[in-house]
Amino acid sequence: MAGHVSLTRNKEIGIVTIDNPPVNAFSPGIPRSIATSIEQLGADPRTAAIVLIGAGRGFSAGADIEELQRIASGHQPRAMDLRILARRIEDCPKPVVCAIHGVCLGGGLEIALGAHYRIAAPSGSFAQPEVKIGLIPGAGGTQRLPRVAGVARALEMCWRGEPAGAEQALADGIVDRIVSNDLLTAAIAFARETLARGGKPPRTRDRDEKLTPERYDPAIFDAARAAARKSMRGQTAPLRAIEAVEASTRLPFDEAMALETSLFEKCLYSEQGRALIHVFFSERNAAKVPGLAPDAPALPVKQAAVAGAGTMGGGIAMTFANAGIPVALKEATRDALDRGVERIRSNYAVSVKRGRFTQAFADERMELIRPSLDYDGFADADVIVEAVFEDMELKKGVFAELDRVAKPDALLATNTSSLDIDSFAGQTSRAGMVLGLHFFSPANVMRLLEIVRGAATTPTAIATAVALARKLNKVPVVVGNCLGFAGNRMFEPYRLEAQFLVEEGAAPETVDRALYDFGMAMGPLATGDLVGLDVAWRIRRLFQEREPPGFRKPLVEDRLYDLGRYGQKSGAGWYRYDENRKPQPDAEVAALTRQLAAAAGIPQREIAPEEIVERTIYALVNEGARILGEGIAQRAADLDIIYVAGFGFPAWRGGPIWYAGEVGLAKVYARIREFEREHGPRWAPAPLLCQLAEQGRSFSE
Ligand code: NAI
Repeated sequence: MAGHVSLTRNKEIGIVTIDNPPVNAFSPGIPRSIATSIEQLGADPRTAAIVLIGAGRGFSAGADIEELQRIASGHQPRAMDLRILARRIEDCPKPVVCAIHGVCLGGGLEIALGAHYRIAAPSGSFAQPEVKIGLIPGAGGTQRLPRVAGVARALEMCWRGEPAGAEQALADGIVDRIVSNDLLTAAIAFARETLARGGKPPRTRDRDEKLTPERYDPAIFDAARAAARKSMRGQTAPLRAIEAVEASTRLPFDEAMALETSLFEKCLYSEQGRALIHVFFSERNAAKVPGLAPDAPALPVKQAAVAGAGTMGGGIAMTFANAGIPVALKEATRDALDRGVERIRSNYAVSVKRGRFTQAFADERMELIRPSLDYDGFADADVIVEAVFEDMELKKGVFAELDRVAKPDALLATNTSSLDIDSFAGQTSRAGMVLGLHFFSPANVMRLLEIVRGAATTPTAIATAVALARKLNKVPVVVGNCLGFAGNRMFEPYRLEAQFLVEEGAAPETVDRALYDFGMAMGPLATGDLVGLDVAWRIRRLFQEREPPGFRKPLVEDRLYDLGRYGQKSGAGWYRYDENRKPQPDAEVAALTRQLAAAAGIPQREIAPEEIVERTIYALVNEGARILGEGIAQRAADLDIIYVAGFGFPAWRGGPIWYAGEVGLAKVYARIREFEREHGPRWAPAPLLCQLAEQGRSFSE
């Protein structure tokens, strides 16, 4: 049903209801209808006051992001502006009471701030989350919020984008009252109270009592900028949000609004804004599986089990427990089980210490995890995740056992990072219910979950896994079965290029720095040290077994492995680590590199950060194109989500494939051809990339 705005009345109170399921977004037409309704009631002699309320689940989730995307890409002119709507509401000569339940986000909050009064149900949730999609509030949020909530709180809400509950909103002054009875009835009563008090309805923009210098510390702006540069590194929107809120303290309302508008538009038409909106939609899309009937039955998951309580198994058990799902956890030996449970306990203790969980929450979660040395509780599990050592024969044995103990329709998943899913399916009598659930380390923290489809995996198994992922608060991406699946397979050539760059003369810290500055959470060599160069060595072997002869092979990392330099866990790898695991450049690595490069006749040169970024990121793009061409990934944007949610790729660059489109595929392709000439057949462009670039097309077409 198309959304609409309805106008009803209760005696002298006019009621404007926004009804645009599911979240009352301000889709085209809605803002104008609200404005017309308010104006009509404002001019109507029978109406003394107005209530503005949302139908359904919440007040409003704000702007229609699809519309913003069309505007940003130049496909649609701007419709009625929310900033005009907020002002019309504010200018209404009769008191407007905004009644809020559920979400009141972004433009929704800005419209509510235009009203003269706000009351909320306990479910009310208030936020200016625009920065999360690369924008800032654009309908007066940066100006009206400081006037009602004070500068410090408004600043925090606008640059961080985090929500505040109803109680917090009341304490902040965003709402005037919390009501627990029927919201509309309460709003009508509230409107009558204001009428009884008389007087002109107070306009938010005229309120400046909270903007006086005594009411806030001027140092908060610089402190916020420093914090934003750190926690939202590389992003411009949070800094612009801070600038706009700061303007509320030094410019008259209209001038500050003009500044907000200009900053908002800069964000909307920026590469970062477009990239973050792309990520926003792609993440939602990734859970949709082409060819899977929308109603493919997902089996309910009420109980889970995990085999192996090591690094991954423990984290996976925590993930289930955090979602309130009881989970049996099986180990091979008493010693390993005790260690595993202790690690889980200490992880929870850290979370309690950091204030992420209460002790009671942690205790409850711990209770949900049932450790054992046999398959206790596995027969009741709806899903079982195998996370034992990465060993084909061991895992095959475990799958045969799981098949015996599990109930017939239980989903059997492996967390393997490199082994063939179908080999495990073959050990069971239910290959259709076998798939990969590839969690990333630490499993209780990383949002990505690759769902790996085997040859026989059924739609029900996939649908169950996707629904489960959402319940676990993960970002599911369905991929095909190949070495490394999608994420790790792309990571291999990316990390190889980083190593080759070192062998050609760039220091490890120069390579890592260039990628960190590009926006990666961590450089590729430091990542190797974190994961373990022994693990990387083992995976590299698997890839090398499949490579044609003549492919350039890395030298230094193999030697580091031979020397027992496994990275952080052994105190040294590409870097040397102190007891706080802080990396220090190591002269030994530099000497070793020079020696190996000289012996192999690799000329040394200085390499600029731009080239470092091109070599590594284009390696991701090229392998991504190969994966797409082979049908391992369902769509280009899925690879972006894998990299943003699982590999620390900066969301504000949209993911590697999106980034390639922004650079221009023709340009990326030409550079890859150059690399092929200079560095050999590893750089042969993926057939899909050749095709798209030569036809002037893009990945998303
Ligand atoms: P780990 O070595 O920390 O843990 C494996 C655990 O399995 C050990 O505690 C071992 O005692 C236990 N185990 C061995 N045989 C068992 C049996 N028959 N029944 C129950 N438990 C048994 O290894 P980690 O790192 O947790 O890896 C587990 C799996 O997850 C591997 O397949 C690995 O490739 C995969 N993986 C690892 C990632 C990582 O970053 N560590 C990331 C993603 C996947």
